[in-house]
Amino acid sequence: MTITTLAEYQRDWDAAKRDPDAFWLGVAKDRITWANPPGKGLEGSFATIADAPLTWFADGSLNASVQCLDRHLDTRGDQTAILWEGDEPSDIRRITYRELHREVCRAASALAGLGVKQGDRVILYMGMVPEAAIAMLALARLGAVHSVVFGGFSASAIAGRVRDCGAKLIITQDAGLRGGKKIPLKATVDEACRETAVDKIVVLRRTGDPVGWQEGRDLWWHDVVATGHDTHPPAIVPAEHPLFILYTSGSTGQPKGVLHTTGGYMAYAAYTHATSFGLREGDIYACVADVGWITGHSYIVYGPLANGTTTVMFESVPTYPDAGRYWDMVERHRITIFYGAPTALRVLANAGDAFVKKYDRSSLRVLGTVGEPINPTTWNWYHDVVGDKHCAVVDTWWQTETGGHAINPIAGVTPTKPGSATKPLPGIVPALRDSDNKVIEGPGEGRLFLEQPWPGQARTVWNDHERFVKTYFAEVPGVYFTGDGCRRDEDGDYWITGRVDDVVNVSGHRMGTAEFESAITSVVGVTEAAVVGYPHDTKGQGIYAFVVAAPSVDRAALDAACRKMIGAHARIDKLQLVPGLPKTRSGKVMRRILRKIAEAGDKDPGDLGDLTTLADPGVVEQIKQGAAKAS
Ligand code: WTA
Repeated sequence: MTITTLAEYQRDWDAAKRDPDAFWLGVAKDRITWANPPGKGLEGSFATIADAPLTWFADGSLNASVQCLDRHLDTRGDQTAILWEGDEPSDIRRITYRELHREVCRAASALAGLGVKQGDRVILYMGMVPEAAIAMLALARLGAVHSVVFGGFSASAIAGRVRDCGAKLIITQDAGLRGGKKIPLKATVDEACRETAVDKIVVLRRTGDPVGWQEGRDLWWHDVVATGHDTHPPAIVPAEHPLFILYTSGSTGQPKGVLHTTGGYMAYAAYTHATSFGLREGDIYACVADVGWITGHSYIVYGPLANGTTTVMFESVPTYPDAGRYWDMVERHRITIFYGAPTALRVLANAGDAFVKKYDRSSLRVLGTVGEPINPTTWNWYHDVVGDKHCAVVDTWWQTETGGHAINPIAGVTPTKPGSATKPLPGIVPALRDSDNKVIEGPGEGRLFLEQPWPGQARTVWNDHERFVKTYFAEVPGVYFTGDGCRRDEDGDYWITGRVDDVVNVSGHRMGTAEFESAITSVVGVTEAAVVGYPHDTKGQGIYAFVVAAPSVDRAALDAACRKMIGAHARIDKLQLVPGLPKTRSGKVMRRILRKIAEAGDKDPGDLGDLTTLADPGVVEQIKQGAAKAS
C-alpha cells in the first residue's frame, strides 16, 4: 500500500475517513508482524474518551523490537540499520540489522538480569549515540516502558520525571559530545538523584571523562551488556501495552507524560514514514533530530527501522565544524532523504550558499522539515539551493501527541506551496473552528482540531487521564484540540500559524510559559512574572519575560533559575522589568496584551483592544513605554 498519485491519495484519505477500522486494519496487517493479528480496529471514541482511553487493535499482540529487528534478519541482515556519525565527521559506525539485533538482545537480557520487567519505567538521559536506540529497543523487547529525557534538560527536570513515572533505573553516559563541547550527563543525573533516588544508573562510556561513582548503584554499560546473551526472546505484549512515555510541555503546570502504546503507534510510525517520504528500497535516510524528542522516536528509530531502512544517527550540530556539515554528510553517505528543522535551515541559509554548493547533493530526492512553521524564504532556499530544484520538500506538521505525521504533502505526489503543510494524511480529519468554536467551512483561519481518531495518537497522560481529557478534549467535547492556529486556503491547503495556547516553540523546542514563570518566580525578590513568545529571526519564537522584581534581582539569577529548573536550552531572550502585570479585576493576567507588546518589540503595538476590564489600566502604558528597553 503506497501512494503514488493524487488519485490514490484521495482514495486512501476517503477510505480512512469512511471506514477507519477497515483502512487501519489493512495498514496494520501490511506493516506489522503480529504474534496474534488483531481482528478489532478502533474501540471507544473521542466522545467517550473521558470514560476510558480509546484503543486500536486491542486483541492483537506483538513486540515493537521484532518489527525493527527480527523480521528483517532473513531479508536484510547484512544491510546497515544504523549509520552513526559522531561529533567528529571521521567518527563513523555502521551497524547492520544482524548486529543491531544482537546488541539489542544483549542489552535486553542484561537489563532483565538487573531486574527490569515488563511494564517497568526506565529513564534514558543520553546523547545521540547508537546505544540510545539500542537501549530503547532493548526495553521495548522486555515490554518495559522507556522515557527519553532530552540531554539538555536539568537535574530538576530529570528528578521530576523520575518521580512522575516511578523509574527505578536511569541509563545515561559519562558525557555527551556536541560541536566539540562536552555535556556532563552523568553529573546531571547524579544531581537529580540527590533529589529523587533510583536503584541503578547504567553509564555508557562515551568521552572517557571521569565521573562520580556510587558503588552498588552505578554500573558501566559495557560491564552490564557483557553479561547479556546474543539472543533474547521478545515479550509479546497486547497492542495497547505502553511503549514509551515522552514528557512534553503544555499550557499549564509541569510537563505531561504523554503515553504511546505499542500496536497503533508502530503501525502509524511505519506507515507515515514510508508514505510521507515515498520510501524506496535502498534509501539512505537521515533525520537529524534528537531521540529526546518525538521526531527522534518516530522517525530515527521506530518508523525507519520498522521499514528496514538505513537510518542515519547524527551526534553533532549543523554548524560543526562549519555550516556545511549536513551537506558534507549527504555527499559522503549518499543520503536520499534528509529530514531537519527550519531553525537549523535558517541558520545555514544565513551562513551562505557556498557551504551547500561545495558538496555533491545529487543523491537527495526528498527534503523534509518538522517542528515549527517554515517561512517561505527558508522553504525556497531548501528547495532551490539545497535540493537544486529537483527534490520534493515535505513540510510535516504533527505533535508529540499525534505520534506521527498528520498534515503534510506526500513526496512527489501532493503539489506543494512554500510555507504550507498542504493536506492531511489518510486518517487525519482536520477542522478549523472560530473563537466561538463554530466549524469554519472552506477557506478561513481558526484553531486547528482533529475530529477522528487515528492509531498513532497518544492514549493518555501517564497516571493522569483526567489531565489528558482536560488538555485536549475540553475545548470542544469529543474533538481533539491541537493548540495550533491554522489557515486553510481556497485549494484546501493548510498553513499552520503557530501555537494559540501558552506553549512557545523556540528553535523547534516546545516550552511551556508556565514552566518559565515558575522558574523565574522561584528567585528571591521576584514578585511575579509573565512569559510569552515573540517572533525571532532564527529561532522562530523567542522567550519574552515580563518580571516584577526588587531592584536587587539581576538577570543572571533569572537565567540561572531557568537553567536549573528547566534546562540548558531554556533561555530568556528578552527581559523587561515592569512595575506590575496587566490583570483583570479577578486577578487574571491578560496575556494577549503582553503578547502584542512583545510582538511589536520597539515599535508601537497599536490597538491593544478592550482594556476596561483591567484592574489598573495605567500599568499597560508603563509596560508599553518600557518595551523598547527590553533586552
Ligand atoms: C509545531 C514536534 C508548523 C506545532 C513534531 C505543534 C509545526 C508543535 C510543524 C508540536 C510544522 C510541528 N509547521 N508548526 N511543520 N511541526 N509544529 O510536540 O506548534 O515537539 O503543535 O512535536 O510544534 O511540537 P512537538
